[in-house]
Amino acid sequence: MADAEDLTRELKILLVDDEVNITKALRRLLMTEDNYDIYIANSAADALDILAEESDVGVIISDQRMPEMTGVEFLQQASKVTPDAIRILLTGYADIEASIAAINEGAVFRYLTKPWDDETLLNSINEAAKNYWLVEENKRLNNLVLQQKDELEQWNGRLKQRVLDQTAQIRTKGVELASTNKQLRESFQETIESLAGLIEMRDHKAPGHSRNVAKLVIAIAKFMQFTDEDNTKLYSAALLHDIGKIAFSDELFETPISSLTTDEMQEYRNHAVRGQAAINMVPALQDIGVLVRHHHERFDGRGFPDQLKGDAIPIGARIIAVADMFERKLIEFPKAEALKSALEELEQEWGKSLDPALRQALLVGAKEVHSYLEISSKVTVSKVSPKGLEVGMQLQHDLFSGTGVLLLKQGTIFDEHAIGAVRRCFLIDPFVQEISVLLESN
Ligand SMILES: [Fe+2]
Ligand SMILES: [Fe+2]
Repeated sequence: MADAEDLTRELKILLVDDEVNITKALRRLLMTEDNYDIYIANSAADALDILAEESDVGVIISDQRMPEMTGVEFLQQASKVTPDAIRILLTGYADIEASIAAINEGAVFRYLTKPWDDETLLNSINEAAKNYWLVEENKRLNNLVLQQKDELEQWNGRLKQRVLDQTAQIRTKGVELASTNKQLRESFQETIESLAGLIEMRDHKAPGHSRNVAKLVIAIAKFMQFTDEDNTKLYSAALLHDIGKIAFSDELFETPISSLTTDEMQEYRNHAVRGQAAINMVPALQDIGVLVRHHHERFDGRGFPDQLKGDAIPIGARIIAVADMFERKLIEFPKAEALKSALEELEQEWGKSLDPALRQALLVGAKEVHSYLEISSKVTVSKVSPKGLEVGMQLQHDLFSGTGVLLLKQGTIFDEHAIGAVRRCFLIDPFVQEISVLLESN
């Protein structure tokens, strides 16, 4: 709605009559009001010229009887130039019928008769002015609403774009962060594998022991449907389970456990606690350290170092104990019957040293990891020096240089190129471990 101030703004009024006296009289009358700006034309042509200049004329009052064109004709033309102006026809009684027709055609807002009563005429014009302002104000408000709607839509569009841009930025950062995290995790994992490689280099009796235990542990954990996070921890713990043996003397490594003296046995047993102590300094490895500590506990409580029993032993440590014992048994038998024999040997351990709940998981896991032993009894494992390598041999374990650089991954089938690379490396950075290879014998 228009407010009071809007209604008192100056309004342009055009008075049109060929009789100068009439326009003068009307002007005098309208001058009594302060808020009208009066324009006068004494012909329709002049009036149209004024309208062409003053497109915001609000009220037009025109005589009907004029020489060039009638008031109705003039107002019709005026309606094209200033469609919003309120058009009033001033007419004598004789022309009332024509005026009513003009009102019906929409050219004229209303008519006033001549001669007029000043008060009635002024009231009518004031009312017309008020109507004009109301319509104008209404248009202004509508335009404002439309403009604000436009602004709001643009603002919404910009906001949406900003949200999209920022989401894209966050996503990019997320991808970068994930990639950095992945690299960190990988390099952490590589560090753990290198540490495992260090122990294996010392323990000639069980080549690839840590890695073999780790692989079997994962196969068991998979059967037991552990989470990926648990699997990663278990894998690392299995790789590092014997890290405490790194300080063993060569003699202790070579002596069978059954032949150890009491002191030597104590030294051997210390490897579990030493292993935990060695990795406990790294916060990310503390959980793993607990599993390392307990990998020699027995299910019946007669193990070491803490004589934990049954479920009091962390499940990860119980799994490592199973895989550890199985892998040590496996290498005691000829390959063709190793899998079957090792499993049979373990039968007497369930419920004593090993958790009987893990029996099924071991049967499945061991067959999965060592399937090559079942597939072909013709496959044999040999230990060769770099000189003894031949094309077609398959590497049974990851191969590291003397200083711990990974040369070849387990499973690599040797070709001339790989053999040449290993031999060259052996001259520069010799490794003490022999190379275990799989051979298909005829
Ligand atoms: Fe151990
Ligand atoms: Fe072990």
